[in-house]
Amino acid sequence: MTPQIAEYLDGLVHEPPHLAAVGAWIEENEEPIHISPAQGAALRALVAATGARRVLEIGTHVGYSALWIAEALAPAGGRLVSLEVDPRRAQTARTHLAASPWGAAVTVVTCDARDWLATSDDEFDLVFLDAEKILYLDLFRAAWDRLRTGGSLVADNTLHKGRVVAPVKDSTRAIAALNVLATSGSVGHGTVLPLGDGLTLVVKTADTLP
Ligand SMILES: C[S@@+](CC[C@H](N)C(=O)[O-])C[C@H]1O[C@@H](n2cnc3c(N)ncnc32)[C@H](O)[C@@H]1O
Repeated sequence: MTPQIAEYLDGLVHEPPHLAAVGAWIEENEEPIHISPAQGAALRALVAATGARRVLEIGTHVGYSALWIAEALAPAGGRLVSLEVDPRRAQTARTHLAASPWGAAVTVVTCDARDWLATSDDEFDLVFLDAEKILYLDLFRAAWDRLRTGGSLVADNTLHKGRVVAPVKDSTRAIAALNVLATSGSVGHGTVLPLGDGLTLVVKTADTLP
């Protein structure tokens, strides 16, 4: 996607004021590693379209994507569990969520997602993966067991700024491997959407992964 198209798509999005405030806070205080507004609107639409009630996010940062997800989830009585390894970011996310209309629907857990996934037996309708890229394949596999059959898994940055075409670094290789698995046809209905830095979407049909 060209920068002009990305700008056009983001320009079409009406960010609710609390989300725009978090975006502005990030510009001043944090690394801008959150999803784009157009990706946020797509996630919100996906939550609404699938009727997801139990959503897991892996990689909270300071709550920007969590707020997009919660906007479709909370009015329908759904819940989001969001995992963040950095305690300072997790606390900031809680502050941002508390200042929004949807804070009560979201639980931010300070943890390494690998540890949490290894011990949880919760089941989710939708998983959004947006954490350390070198862990992507491992986190995909671990999250798969927490996703109900028919549920959806979405992963961000799966084009890795175009580097997936010819991976050089291990982090890019992990993303490329996730894309191959998700779209292989053997695990579910998978596709890579070229929105933002790439969103891989797979609807789970197979309980076990090859
Ligand atoms: C790209 S940011 C997430 C952005 C967020 N989803 C958004 O769009 O607003 C990735 C976050 O994942 C966290 N993270 C990285 N590895 C993690 C792990 N193993 N467990 C939990 N969080 C992790 C990082 O600290 C960082 O805040």
